[in-house]
Amino acid sequence: MVKKKDIDWGNLDFAYHVTDKRYVSNFTDGAWDGGALISDDKIVMSEDAGVLQYSQSVFEGLKAYTTEDGHVVCFRPDLNAQRMYDSALRLEMPPFPQDRFVDAVKQVVAANEAWVPPYGSGASLYIRPYMFGISPVIGVKPAEDYQFRIFTTPVGPYFKGGAKPIDIKVSDYDRAAPRGTGNIKAGLNYAMSLHAIVEAHKEGFAENIYLDPATRTKIEETGGANTIFVDADGNLVIPRSDSILPSVTRRSIEVVARDYLGIQVTEREVYLDEIGAFREMGLCGTAAVISPVRCINDHGKEIVFEDNNRGEMGPVLTKLYDTLTGIQLGRIEGPEGWVVPIC
Ligand code: PLP
Ligand code: COI
Repeated sequence: MVKKKDIDWGNLDFAYHVTDKRYVSNFTDGAWDGGALISDDKIVMSEDAGVLQYSQSVFEGLKAYTTEDGHVVCFRPDLNAQRMYDSALRLEMPPFPQDRFVDAVKQVVAANEAWVPPYGSGASLYIRPYMFGISPVIGVKPAEDYQFRIFTTPVGPYFKGGAKPIDIKVSDYDRAAPRGTGNIKAGLNYAMSLHAIVEAHKEGFAENIYLDPATRTKIEETGGANTIFVDADGNLVIPRSDSILPSVTRRSIEVVARDYLGIQVTEREVYLDEIGAFREMGLCGTAAVISPVRCINDHGKEIVFEDNNRGEMGPVLTKLYDTLTGIQLGRIEGPEGWVVPIC
């Protein structure tokens, strides 16, 4: 086992730190090269690169953890490989082969083993695969050449205050059009959310909840996470929409709820005017893990989730959180293939 870096692991926030190695592969002359680990964290490209002019970029996010017995693992990288493949096709980019994606994740995490936070610190190593058009483009069309990269950075909780329930607001902006790009992980979806998140933060909210743009009556998701609700019977209700990102965390929670905890799961359209009846609301994602929501502010009207209103996460979300993170950290045996050993 390598010696860990000298970092105050317990006080990390969700920020970027330059780690030792990153993985790079280039797509030129119509093919991906063999890829390599490199030390240089800087990228040199044309002033007219496709990513700079027309935002041709997609990305992923997953985490590596140190388990109780001191091994390093990551969680369901095959699903990130698949989603990045789908994202690339939607933006007319040459998809990176899925088996190579998983292999590259393993290589870059192993090369940065000293940066993987120790077991029990509450922190993890965030893995950021991304790919972008690198050759010059001036008419609106896809680039010819692309770069695929993965960097890693040790992170703590996404929301300040860790597991303390947060307040969020109903956004007046739309996140994703019905037949737009909301279901893929493209940088452009996040660029357009920056104005809304800056406004929300200024008003004291941790995040925005976006509604469906066509009717503005249904829950979609927040800027960086899917949502889950717990009803009065302790069952899970999950908003369905074609324009939200298919979250790996949310899909895993569905299995954990059903197969590990015997909780009934319903995926359906969820209306803003019905959520006052729910007991708990959670935001779920790689960065958010499961973050409890205390209240949604709908233009001054407060929708409070009573079981998250006592300063901590409600009981059903707590069970889901403990089981999911128990699997990720190797304390609970996960379904076949979920936890992938690295070193
Ligand atoms: N929705 C959005 C918009 C996100 O940015 C993320 C983060 O990746 C998620 C949902 C959660 O997805 P996952 O659980 O795969 O990280
Ligand atoms: C993730 O959870 O991996 C994300 O990409 C969300 C992002 C807002 C940090």
